[in-house]
Amino acid sequence: MAASNHYALILGVSSGFGKAAALALAKDGINIIGVHLDRAAGMQQVDELRAQLTQIGVRQLFFNVNAADPERRADIMQGIEAEFQAHPGSTIRLMLHSLAFGTLKPFIAERTNDAISQKNLEMTMDVMANSIIYYTQDVVRHGLMAPGGRIIGLTSAGSSRALPVYGAVSAAKAALESYCRQLAMELAPYGITANTIRAGVTYTPALAKIPSAEAIMNNAMMRNPAHRLTTPEDVANVLRLLIKDEAGWINAEVLGVDGGENSVDMTLWSAPE
Ligand SMILES: NC(=O)c1ccc[n+]([C@@H]2O[C@H](COP(=O)([O-])OP(=O)(O)OC[C@H]3O[C@@H](n4cnc5c(N)ncnc54)[C@H](O)[C@@H]3O)[C@@H](O)[C@H]2O)c1
Repeated sequence: MAASNHYALILGVSSGFGKAAALALAKDGINIIGVHLDRAAGMQQVDELRAQLTQIGVRQLFFNVNAADPERRADIMQGIEAEFQAHPGSTIRLMLHSLAFGTLKPFIAERTNDAISQKNLEMTMDVMANSIIYYTQDVVRHGLMAPGGRIIGLTSAGSSRALPVYGAVSAAKAALESYCRQLAMELAPYGITANTIRAGVTYTPALAKIPSAEAIMNNAMMRNPAHRLTTPEDVANVLRLLIKDEAGWINAEVLGVDGGENSVDMTLWSAPE
């Protein structure tokens, strides 16, 4: 498919939701600007993704940097501006915030080092929440997103629940939802919407890092009316809908994309014989 003038800026492009979004949107002709943080061991998957994008036929611009570093963010904006100068009429149609980089330490522990520190908490909030504001500010200030643009953050059911070791990430998710609501209000004059997608439990490298990942997945599958986990592709498919003009009135929402997992609990009632 020939590339359009539409781009998706995907923060966290190299795995999980970000990667699935890149592939699905590219198949719809959307060019991909990807930001990720991978060491040498993770670069094979990035190279494979980039080769797939080349084969699909879209333009791509990748940055392997810490997205929360303001200097690297400035480099990214410069890179996008140069790309758009080379391809006049280009615009970022979607900015997806899909960064997973949070501490899993509890707030309270006997030994100081086992408990969350100020640095741990600030890093989690900065990468997983605050950065959506800074990127949105830059994208809008530099005129890189036209009316019809979409800002999307990825949240989870843990945004409104206390779960073991999820304290900092839970706070970041609550902040992300709040930030997107605020952005929705402030971006309305620009014709840009902002929403969060509350994905169901999904097997990705970020989930695998949580100590009780297996129990979380088993529990989700039992509760979910479809008795399966959410997949990154389930979420990517919804992004394909949200970037359409017809979805322009969906704004300031937390959209559940979980097959009903958050609203239904199949474990609480057994069907009559
Ligand atoms: N997996 C789930 O069950 C689930 C459910 C709901 C919401 N989420 C949220 O979805 C988002 C994406 O998670 P995922 O499960 O796809 O994780 P993932 O580990 O598969 O992907 C995370 C991506 O973020 C990038 N990244 C991490 N820190 C970075 C940094 N400082 N700078 C630049 N790039 C960085 C990684 O390189 C990778 O591309 C997260 O915000 C996560 O909390 C996950």
